[in-house]
Amino acid sequence: MIGIFDSGVGGLSVFREICRILPQQSYVYYSDNANCPYGEKPREYIIERARSITRELISLGAEIIVVACNTATAAAITTLREEFPVRFIGMEPAVKPAAAITRTGVVGVLATAGTLKATKYIDTRERWAQDIKVVEHIGEGFVELVESGRTYGPEAENIVGHSLIPLLEAGADTVVLGCTHYPFLAETIKKVAAAYHADSNLDNIHLVFNLIDPAPAVARHLLEVMSEEGIETSDPHGFSIRLMSSGNPEMLQRFYSGLRQSCQYI
Ligand code: DGL
Repeated sequence: MIGIFDSGVGGLSVFREICRILPQQSYVYYSDNANCPYGEKPREYIIERARSITRELISLGAEIIVVACNTATAAAITTLREEFPVRFIGMEPAVKPAAAITRTGVVGVLATAGTLKATKYIDTRERWAQDIKVVEHIGEGFVELVESGRTYGPEAENIVGHSLIPLLEAGADTVVLGCTHYPFLAETIKKVAAAYHADSNLDNIHLVFNLIDPAPAVARHLLEVMSEEGIETSDPHGFSIRLMSSGNPEMLQRFYSGLRQSCQYI
């Protein structure tokens, strides 16, 4: 069984990529939405939540745990690895693939305050972005939009624009989604970027806009680690998922049902 957790529904953007390559697994997904968002919370607080959720996932039979949250990965994964006897797969800010494909030499990173100030992110940026410029912005209000299902329409475009446009103005043609909630805003982000480019007198080079979600790479890494650890990649009873929430189980169930409708392989 694979355990997955996030501060809320964001980790389901990682779950859907995992499901694409491990469709016959059993899963337990924990949404800590009573304590969401994590973005501005103190590191110690997030470590404590991660510990308590991990204990619960292990007690339910999780053999490996995906920390499907960039903020919790940055704050807590080292502690979790020291304290628990299972393997943990965390989120990596996708600066490396972004640096490889940018044509303007400017990469934008959207993430939470907690992720952007963490050593893990700063080290990744130092390592992979030596020859490019990286501009960052907190996705202000993004998590709240996703948690409340308001991911499309003028209000979402307005909120997204506030954080995205400064990155586009700085010349970013490639934007890293550094929070697992943000892929649920991908369509709105692309729409806002397209409108910005249509309104600006920019060279054609700017018209190629790349949005990078690290979830597919995280799913592939999970599969590799499961093979290394000898963990079965399918459950004899086939696919199952148990949804758990610290705050609002109905909302999590509703979000999950919506995801199933929009995704043929879940
Ligand atoms: N989904 C999370 C992340 O990847 C956390 C967002 C939040 O709770 O602020 O960072």
